Amino acid sequence: MEELKLQRMTRNLCHELYKEWENDEAIYMDMNSFKPYIYNEDAVNRYFDSKQDSSRILFVIMHSDKPIGELQLKQIDYDKKECTLSIHMQNDHSKGKGYGTKAEQLAIKYAFEELGMDAVNADTVKKNIRSQHVIEKVGFKFIKEDDCFKYYRIQR
Ligand SMILES: CC(C)(COP(=O)(O)OP(=O)(O)OC[C@H]1O[C@@H](n2cnc3c(N)ncnc32)[C@H](O)[C@@H]1OP(=O)(O)O)[C@@H](O)C(=O)NCCC(=O)NCCS
Repeated sequence: MEELKLQRMTRNLCHELYKEWENDEAIYMDMNSFKPYIYNEDAVNRYFDSKQDSSRILFVIMHSDKPIGELQLKQIDYDKKECTLSIHMQNDHSKGKGYGTKAEQLAIKYAFEELGMDAVNADTVKKNIRSQHVIEKVGFKFIKEDDCFKYYRIQR
Protein backbone atom coordinates (compact mmCIF):
# COMPACT_ATOMS: atom_id res chain seq x y z
CA MET A 1 0.00 0.00 0.00
CA GLU A 2 3.06 2.24 0.18
CA GLU A 3 2.53 3.20 -3.43
CA LEU A 4 -0.89 4.80 -2.87
CA LYS A 5 -0.93 8.57 -2.67
CA LEU A 6 -3.22 11.55 -3.06
CA GLN A 7 -2.12 14.40 -5.25
CA ARG A 8 -3.76 17.46 -6.73
CA MET A 9 -5.63 16.64 -9.91
CA THR A 10 -4.13 18.02 -13.11
CA ARG A 11 -5.95 18.36 -16.42
CA ASN A 12 -3.85 15.57 -17.95
CA LEU A 13 -4.44 13.18 -15.05
CA CYS A 14 -8.14 14.00 -15.19
CA HIS A 15 -8.23 12.84 -18.82
CA GLU A 16 -6.22 9.73 -17.99
CA LEU A 17 -8.61 8.94 -15.11
CA TYR A 18 -11.81 9.45 -17.09
CA LYS A 19 -10.67 7.51 -20.17
CA GLU A 20 -11.05 4.35 -18.06
CA TRP A 21 -13.96 5.57 -15.91
CA GLU A 22 -17.08 3.56 -15.04
CA ASN A 23 -20.07 5.03 -13.25
CA ASP A 24 -21.09 3.02 -10.18
CA GLU A 25 -24.73 2.16 -9.61
CA ALA A 26 -24.28 2.47 -5.85
CA ILE A 27 -24.30 6.27 -5.92
CA TYR A 28 -27.59 6.59 -7.81
CA MET A 29 -30.66 7.16 -5.72
CA ASP A 30 -32.78 6.92 -8.82
CA MET A 31 -31.57 4.30 -11.28
CA ASN A 32 -33.45 6.08 -14.08
CA SER A 33 -30.66 8.64 -14.05
CA PHE A 34 -27.92 6.00 -14.28
CA LYS A 35 -26.05 5.90 -17.59
CA PRO A 36 -22.84 4.05 -18.46
CA TYR A 37 -19.99 6.56 -18.67
CA ILE A 38 -18.64 7.48 -22.09
CA TYR A 39 -15.39 9.47 -22.26
CA ASN A 40 -15.62 12.84 -23.99
CA GLU A 41 -12.61 15.15 -24.12
CA ASP A 42 -14.60 18.41 -24.02
CA ALA A 43 -16.78 17.19 -21.18
CA VAL A 44 -13.72 16.27 -19.11
CA ASN A 45 -12.21 19.71 -19.77
CA ARG A 46 -15.44 21.36 -18.63
CA TYR A 47 -15.60 19.08 -15.59
CA PHE A 48 -12.00 19.85 -14.60
CA ASP A 49 -12.59 23.62 -14.99
CA SER A 50 -15.79 23.46 -12.93
CA LYS A 51 -13.90 21.99 -9.94
CA GLN A 52 -11.31 24.77 -9.58
CA ASP A 53 -13.17 26.90 -7.03
CA SER A 54 -11.41 27.95 -3.83
CA SER A 55 -13.75 25.98 -1.54
CA ARG A 56 -12.70 22.68 -3.06
CA ILE A 57 -9.61 20.55 -3.60
CA LEU A 58 -9.83 17.93 -6.30
CA PHE A 59 -7.39 15.08 -5.70
CA VAL A 60 -6.46 12.16 -7.86
CA ILE A 61 -5.80 8.86 -6.10
CA MET A 62 -2.58 7.47 -7.56
CA HIS A 63 -1.37 3.90 -7.32
CA SER A 64 2.00 2.95 -8.79
CA ASP A 65 1.91 6.23 -10.74
CA LYS A 66 -1.47 5.51 -12.32
CA PRO A 67 -4.71 7.33 -11.53
CA ILE A 68 -7.21 4.95 -9.90
CA GLY A 69 -9.79 7.28 -8.41
CA GLU A 70 -10.90 10.74 -7.49
CA LEU A 71 -11.34 12.28 -4.07
CA GLN A 72 -12.64 15.73 -3.22
CA LEU A 73 -12.53 17.86 -0.13
CA LYS A 74 -15.32 20.33 -0.86
CA GLN A 75 -17.43 22.95 0.89
CA ILE A 76 -14.21 23.88 2.67
CA ASP A 77 -15.15 26.48 5.28
CA TYR A 78 -12.08 28.00 6.91
CA ASP A 79 -14.20 29.89 9.49
CA LYS A 80 -16.18 26.88 10.68
CA LYS A 81 -13.11 24.68 10.07
CA GLU A 82 -15.06 21.94 8.33
CA CYS A 83 -15.35 20.41 4.88
CA THR A 84 -16.98 17.49 3.10
CA LEU A 85 -15.29 14.43 1.60
CA SER A 86 -16.40 12.62 -1.53
CA ILE A 87 -14.70 9.73 -3.29
CA HIS A 88 -15.17 7.60 -6.39
CA MET A 89 -12.77 4.94 -7.61
CA GLN A 90 -12.13 4.73 -11.36
CA ASN A 91 -13.77 1.36 -12.07
CA ASP A 92 -14.29 -2.09 -10.58
CA HIS A 93 -10.59 -2.99 -11.01
CA SER A 94 -9.65 -0.39 -8.40
CA LYS A 95 -12.37 -1.30 -5.87
CA GLY A 96 -12.24 -3.81 -3.03
CA LYS A 97 -8.44 -3.72 -2.67
CA GLY A 98 -8.17 -1.40 0.31
CA TYR A 99 -7.34 1.66 -1.80
CA GLY A 100 -10.52 3.59 -0.94
CA THR A 101 -9.91 3.08 2.77
CA LYS A 102 -6.33 4.28 2.48
CA ALA A 103 -7.29 7.29 0.34
CA GLU A 104 -9.95 8.38 2.85
CA GLN A 105 -7.42 8.08 5.70
CA LEU A 106 -4.95 10.25 3.78
CA ALA A 107 -7.66 12.82 3.01
CA ILE A 108 -8.75 13.10 6.64
CA LYS A 109 -5.13 13.57 7.68
CA TYR A 110 -4.72 16.25 4.99
CA ALA A 111 -7.90 18.04 6.08
CA PHE A 112 -6.81 18.13 9.73
CA GLU A 113 -3.08 18.70 9.34
CA GLU A 114 -2.76 20.74 6.14
CA LEU A 115 -6.07 22.61 6.00
CA GLY A 116 -6.53 23.03 9.75
CA MET A 117 -10.05 21.62 9.72
CA ASP A 118 -11.70 20.48 12.95
CA ALA A 119 -14.26 18.23 11.25
CA VAL A 120 -14.90 16.44 7.96
CA ASN A 121 -18.42 15.53 6.81
CA ALA A 122 -19.54 12.82 4.41
CA ASP A 123 -22.84 11.55 3.12
CA THR A 124 -23.86 8.45 1.23
CA VAL A 125 -26.94 7.29 -0.63
CA LYS A 126 -28.74 4.95 1.76
CA LYS A 127 -28.27 1.84 -0.37
CA ASN A 128 -24.49 2.37 -0.59
CA ILE A 129 -23.58 -0.04 2.20
CA ARG A 130 -20.01 -0.51 1.02
CA SER A 131 -19.28 3.20 1.27
CA GLN A 132 -20.92 3.38 4.70
CA HIS A 133 -18.75 0.49 5.85
CA VAL A 134 -15.56 2.22 4.69
CA ILE A 135 -16.60 5.60 6.12
CA GLU A 136 -17.23 4.02 9.52
CA LYS A 137 -14.03 1.97 9.30
CA VAL A 138 -11.92 5.12 8.95
CA GLY A 139 -13.61 6.72 11.97
CA PHE A 140 -16.61 8.73 10.78
CA LYS A 141 -19.59 8.68 13.15
CA PHE A 142 -23.16 8.35 11.93
CA ILE A 143 -25.05 11.61 12.54
CA LYS A 144 -28.48 11.32 10.94
CA GLU A 145 -30.41 10.10 7.95
CA ASP A 146 -33.24 11.32 5.76
CA ASP A 147 -35.20 9.59 3.00
CA CYS A 148 -32.22 9.46 0.66
CA PHE A 149 -28.95 9.89 2.53
CA LYS A 150 -26.99 8.91 5.62
CA TYR A 151 -24.79 11.64 7.08
CA TYR A 152 -21.46 11.15 8.84
CA ARG A 153 -18.84 13.31 10.51
CA ILE A 154 -15.36 12.84 11.89
CA GLN A 155 -13.87 15.27 14.37
CA ARG A 156 -10.23 15.96 15.05
C1 LIG B 1 -16.86 3.28 -1.80
C2 LIG B 1 -15.45 3.15 -2.34
C3 LIG B 1 -14.79 4.51 -2.38
C4 LIG B 1 -14.65 2.25 -1.38
O1 LIG B 1 -13.36 2.07 -1.90
P1 LIG B 1 -12.75 0.59 -2.07
O2 LIG B 1 -11.36 0.73 -2.50
O3 LIG B 1 -13.68 -0.18 -2.97
O4 LIG B 1 -12.89 0.06 -0.58
P2 LIG B 1 -11.87 -0.86 0.24
O5 LIG B 1 -11.37 -1.95 -0.62
O6 LIG B 1 -10.85 0.01 0.90
O7 LIG B 1 -12.82 -1.40 1.39
C5 LIG B 1 -14.04 -2.02 1.05
C6 LIG B 1 -14.66 -2.52 2.33
O8 LIG B 1 -16.06 -2.65 2.12
C7 LIG B 1 -16.43 -3.98 2.38
N1 LIG B 1 -17.53 -4.24 1.47
C8 LIG B 1 -17.49 -4.49 0.16
N2 LIG B 1 -18.75 -4.64 -0.31
C9 LIG B 1 -19.58 -4.46 0.74
C10 LIG B 1 -20.99 -4.49 0.90
N3 LIG B 1 -21.80 -4.72 -0.13
N4 LIG B 1 -21.50 -4.25 2.13
C11 LIG B 1 -20.69 -4.01 3.19
N5 LIG B 1 -19.34 -3.97 3.08
C12 LIG B 1 -18.80 -4.19 1.87
C13 LIG B 1 -15.19 -4.80 2.15
O9 LIG B 1 -15.25 -6.03 2.83
C14 LIG B 1 -14.14 -3.87 2.75
O10 LIG B 1 -14.19 -3.86 4.14
P3 LIG B 1 -13.08 -4.59 5.07
O11 LIG B 1 -11.76 -3.98 4.70
O12 LIG B 1 -13.52 -4.27 6.45
O13 LIG B 1 -13.17 -6.03 4.70
C15 LIG B 1 -15.42 2.50 -3.76
O14 LIG B 1 -15.96 1.21 -3.71
C16 LIG B 1 -16.15 3.33 -4.80
O15 LIG B 1 -15.58 4.20 -5.43
N6 LIG B 1 -17.46 3.05 -4.99
C17 LIG B 1 -18.26 3.76 -6.00
C18 LIG B 1 -18.47 5.21 -5.65
C19 LIG B 1 -18.95 5.41 -4.25
O16 LIG B 1 -19.74 4.66 -3.72
N7 LIG B 1 -18.44 6.47 -3.64
C20 LIG B 1 -18.81 6.86 -2.31
C21 LIG B 1 -19.94 7.79 -2.41
S1 LIG B 1 -20.40 8.34 -0.80
